[in-house]
Amino acid sequence: MPARILVAYASKKGSTGGIARAIGRELQSAGHVAIVAGMRSVPSLEGYDGVVLGAPVYTGSVMADLAGFVARHKEALSRVPVAAFTAGIAPVYPKTGEIATFTDQLVTALQPQAPVAVTMFAGALDREKLSFIERGLTTVLNVPAGDFRNWDAIAAWSRELPGKMGLGAGVKE
Ligand SMILES: Cc1cc2nc3c(=O)[nH]c(=O)nc-3n(C[C@H](O)[C@H](O)[C@H](O)COP(=O)(O)O)c2cc1C
Repeated sequence: MPARILVAYASKKGSTGGIARAIGRELQSAGHVAIVAGMRSVPSLEGYDGVVLGAPVYTGSVMADLAGFVARHKEALSRVPVAAFTAGIAPVYPKTGEIATFTDQLVTALQPQAPVAVTMFAGALDREKLSFIERGLTTVLNVPAGDFRNWDAIAAWSRELPGKMGLGAGVKE
């Protein structure tokens, strides 16, 4: 039976949306129905069998939109399996923080619900998209620019989700 899985993301510059869409594509190709949407545009979780949440890290914290989403949908979320990911530069540039710190922030935001999976993916940093202040900050911190998203790692994590969510196999095309 195909499951209906929501992949809801927050993003400032777009790279986390790209990761969310890649997760959605992988779930679709496993035969499930995946709906990918910005967190702020999700009115209700009705009709979903599982939820994947994603948000990037900015200056040491996972974007607060994620905690806001959890607070808005606490009741409905508690009834479905949830997985969460964050995106940032830390996996390729450890001076910007420890991966475990950020995955712990995901776990804390979801408490008391225990997610079936949490992870951090390398994101992307495009200097062209940064504000004057952001550019200054990232230059001072020597943060490398580039697109570090590892599509194979994202696909591999996504393939495990239906099983971890107890949703079984979808319908192969
Ligand atoms: C001002 C600024 C601060 C950032 N701070 C962090 C950080 O503390 N740790 C980290 O791992 N990545 C940090 N990043 C990298 C972002 O998390 C990364 O670029 C991410 O892919 C952005 O997601 P988005 O394009 O969806 O907004 C920072 C980026 C900017 C521009």
